[in-house]
Amino acid sequence: MERAPRGVDPTTPNSARVYDYLLGGKDNYEVDRAVARRMLSIAPDTRTLAWFSRQFLVNAVQLAAEAGVRQFIDLGAGIPTSPNVHEVARKTDPSARVVYVDFDPVVYAHCNALLAASDGVAAMLGDVRRPDDILDRLASGKLIDFDEPVAITLVGVLHFVMDDEHPAEIVARFRDAMAPGSYLAFTHGSDSSDPEFISQSSADTAKSSAQVRYRSAARVASFFDGFDMLDPGVVPLQRWLDDDLPATRLVLLGGVVRKA
Ligand SMILES: C[S@@+](CC[C@H](N)C(=O)[O-])C[C@H]1O[C@@H](n2cnc3c(N)ncnc32)[C@H](O)[C@@H]1O
Repeated sequence: MERAPRGVDPTTPNSARVYDYLLGGKDNYEVDRAVARRMLSIAPDTRTLAWFSRQFLVNAVQLAAEAGVRQFIDLGAGIPTSPNVHEVARKTDPSARVVYVDFDPVVYAHCNALLAASDGVAAMLGDVRRPDDILDRLASGKLIDFDEPVAITLVGVLHFVMDDEHPAEIVARFRDAMAPGSYLAFTHGSDSSDPEFISQSSADTAKSSAQVRYRSAARVASFFDGFDMLDPGVVPLQRWLDDDLPATRLVLLGGVVRKA
């Protein structure tokens, strides 16, 4: 499959590394920093938005843990950033099990190094666009029991799935494998973002694995047919966090759904 990172390539922008740079991390190259700086020159608030997104992830994991979910799959996990999913989930139950999945071998190596010493926490190299492969390996690895509720996070990932890669079908495959009482939390780049930001970032990342397909809230919501949508629905992340937070030029939509 094309548009997947193959080991360390310092010449092509990489979404995990651009995001790492926005969050203040050190695991990025000049090609990633150049893309991020062009984003920041149009929308300086993108760095703040990256932290809003992390807070949304933390809150969603906490919501699922408090609802009794004890197993978590973080799809498109990214370069580890604290607090991580297992740190949040284990505040509610120290025995919570977590699998971090990413298609980037560098992210996988980072996750493995960080998690090697944690029982019940694992990293997996897997491509969200191949849901059956991920589901088969999760089930056979025995860390995830699909007869029990699970929480899946798809934070900052689905907009990297192009239309001809069938995002709705991908979500449906995960939905069908999830037990009743399971949760899924997601964010997605909105087509109501600043037009200059969309055209610059699209030009910078065209045909790379960091290419983004910005979509409308209605289109994103349609990917989650068959789930119950929690309030306030598919809305800018700020509304999930605190109505007082400022709007940002890059608009990230967030949502949480539950399987009845
Ligand atoms: C913007 S980062 C978000 C990281 C993390 N989820 C967070 O919100 O902090 C996007 C991550 O998704 C991963 N990713 C993108 N497309 C993917 C795919 N098809 N399969 C698995 N991982 C993917 C990238 O490698 C990157 O680590």
